[in-house]
Amino acid sequence: MLPSNIVDKIGKNLHLQSRHPLNWIKHKIQNYFQSGKVSSLTPFIFHDGFAPQVSIKDNFDSLLIPADHVSRSHKDTFYIDDDTVLRTHTSAHQNQLLRQGERYFLVTGDVYRRDTVDATHYPVFHQMEGVWVPRLKDLGAFTDPQKEVTKHLHATLEGLAKYLFGNVECRWVDCYFPFTAPSWELEIFFNGDWLEVLGCGLIEKKILENNGMPDDVGWAFGLGLERLAMVLFQIPDIRLFWSEDPRFLNQFQDSADVIFKPYSKHPCVTKDISFWISSDYHENDFYQLIREAAEDLIEEVKLIDNFQHPKTKQINHTYRIIYRSMDRTLTNEEINNLQEVIRQKTQELPIELR
Ligand code: DAH
Repeated sequence: MLPSNIVDKIGKNLHLQSRHPLNWIKHKIQNYFQSGKVSSLTPFIFHDGFAPQVSIKDNFDSLLIPADHVSRSHKDTFYIDDDTVLRTHTSAHQNQLLRQGERYFLVTGDVYRRDTVDATHYPVFHQMEGVWVPRLKDLGAFTDPQKEVTKHLHATLEGLAKYLFGNVECRWVDCYFPFTAPSWELEIFFNGDWLEVLGCGLIEKKILENNGMPDDVGWAFGLGLERLAMVLFQIPDIRLFWSEDPRFLNQFQDSADVIFKPYSKHPCVTKDISFWISSDYHENDFYQLIREAAEDLIEEVKLIDNFQHPKTKQINHTYRIIYRSMDRTLTNEEINNLQEVIRQKTQELPIELR
């Protein structure tokens, strides 16, 4: 039985939600692979709608993950039944697509793992898998396809890192994955630290053989979208990706060139204030008065009504004041006091309170 907090996440598909930060980063990466910088061969095919319920064969066996590998344990993986799991990585789709004869593709999807509880881990996250298996004849008359494909892998993924993060320093760290040999992690030097960006390698010969490509050499990589988005947009907590709070989502409405501005987790209280204005009234004087009276306890002041009296021609403004502290819950009493202070102070303005 899957826990209900996990079942709730299935089908949310944050990577498919237009203007979600994970959608932006998916598009950025897809743009890079579409740009022709990567492959002059057949274009990449993008898959991002595969369901996360996959067979144990696809998630583990076909990727040569040993029977006793920790990742298969019920402590690490969500099992649906004896044959089915929630995919633990998007690599689960590699074999199926290769078997269909696809050679250049990206697969994006939600993946599920039991894991630690902290700001960078969440039991559901999103990955992108990339595969490039050229036909030998398309590689040209190179004597050493292994060397050629390795060169292409390193150039492509360093190019991706620079496309996303600017002109960063890159380094390759040898590592191990059951489905690639040799295998590497790519690290970039960013904001004063070495940051792991992705895992990759040359696809195990056995996998290509099993899928009808016995003579070919190819590469694969896998990366976590949250991890990159957290760095790129400076999102401090992985739970925010699941937030439906407009203060989060609205920050990503216009473009992917965004530095996330943190907002308070404390509740707000709203109060309205209405007055008749005269011709030498300036909104900014009212805003300044509010800042002086309440300092940082007000998050936003919105003009919610602006009408002209049909007879007197006087203009009325109604403002909604949203009180919220960055670091504590405000009491009713202090908000009532503040609102009264503001009402008093408005006497300095050319207005008439209603
Ligand atoms: N599936 C790996 C993971 O979830 C990531 C990965 C590493 C994918 C190397 C690959 C690869 O295709 O070649 O950690």
